[in-house]
Amino acid sequence: MIKPSNKLNNLATSVFSELAAKKNEKLRQGQDMIDLSIGSPDSPPPAFVKEHLAQSVLRDDQYGYAINSTDTFNEAVCHYYKQRFDVEVATDEVLQLIGSQDGLAHIALAYLDKGDVIIAPDPGYPIYSACAHIAGAELYQVPVNESNNFKPSLDEIPADIKKRAKIMIFNYPGNPTSALADQTYFEEIVEFGLTHNILVIHDFAYCELIFDNQKPLSLLAVQDAKKTAIEFNSLSKSFNMAGARIGYVIGDPTLLQPLATIKSHLDYGVFHPIQSAAAAALTSDYQFLDEHRKTYEKRRNIFVKELHTQGWSVRTPQGGMFVWAKTPQQYTSLDFSLEAIEKGVIVTPGHAFGSEGEGYVRIALVQEEQRLQEAAKRLALLL
Ligand SMILES: Cc1ncc(COP(=O)(O)O)c(C=O)c1O
Repeated sequence: MIKPSNKLNNLATSVFSELAAKKNEKLRQGQDMIDLSIGSPDSPPPAFVKEHLAQSVLRDDQYGYAINSTDTFNEAVCHYYKQRFDVEVATDEVLQLIGSQDGLAHIALAYLDKGDVIIAPDPGYPIYSACAHIAGAELYQVPVNESNNFKPSLDEIPADIKKRAKIMIFNYPGNPTSALADQTYFEEIVEFGLTHNILVIHDFAYCELIFDNQKPLSLLAVQDAKKTAIEFNSLSKSFNMAGARIGYVIGDPTLLQPLATIKSHLDYGVFHPIQSAAAAALTSDYQFLDEHRKTYEKRRNIFVKELHTQGWSVRTPQGGMFVWAKTPQQYTSLDFSLEAIEKGVIVTPGHAFGSEGEGYVRIALVQEEQRLQEAAKRLALLL
């Protein structure tokens, strides 16, 4: 046996393997399963995006290494940011990614050495802590929960951590919490980054899923943000392009350069047809985005209403793709998730996102309304 790197010790996969094994057993037995465990969009991209992709793949000149993003793609990102978030972006402030995961996974390698610290939310999207382990850096987690209204107090971070931290990462609308931030909190975050010389990262993957007529807020809209912050974004959730891998990070070119250097050794860019389809999406009339948001808002309304009717008082998410639900007292997150599988619903146990997630489950709104209503009824059998 050749011993793998110690870095793998902290990259837990066991929860998901256990759930997958149980799900497969149920499927083999012929049970109808409603899978609400993964935030992968269940609908296709808009027709014009698929059409664009289909035509491009037939062209012979599309198959070389892309290496970098095209000017058209970068210009499309700038246009989109101005239109949707009123943020001015220059073309050299865009770094294309193979999905935002690519950048989030490698940013710590680009910035952190042993003894350096990354500050990340708990619960948080798993790569925020995994990237620290992959880079051999130290992780400091701040609790993000109902008692701090999902906006952790930055004052409470110990002085030693502030000194050693080089990256701090946030995500609104949050995965798994679906929480939103506000302008004042974003200003505090930027101030914190500037004061302590920390690279602030905002992951804005769910920027188009914000409900109840609230406006999306880019961290880069805050004054002086570009001096300390970069923002990751993606077409996966906004345009249902999750499998057609493409994303980007925006920021001052000097802040993006370390990641660009690492990536120049790791990959050769995004398939050209995906780049041009993404540019078409980002420069479209955005009618699709309005419908898309309404679809998820309706799903949220129907699912949460059904849960409330059944007697489970979950918080109504104001954005994102998930319901972050407190489990009934008699269950741990894992017990609840395993019991839910018995009833034909797959959800993700909250502790998979960090220890603060214990006592919660994450339920993704990635099925049609009727199936969500049925899922709510099945879950209510556990109350
Ligand atoms: C919060 C968040 N960030 C980033 C990603 C990665 O998305 P992609 O790599 O498809 O852009 C996801 C995917 O689920 C996510 O939930």
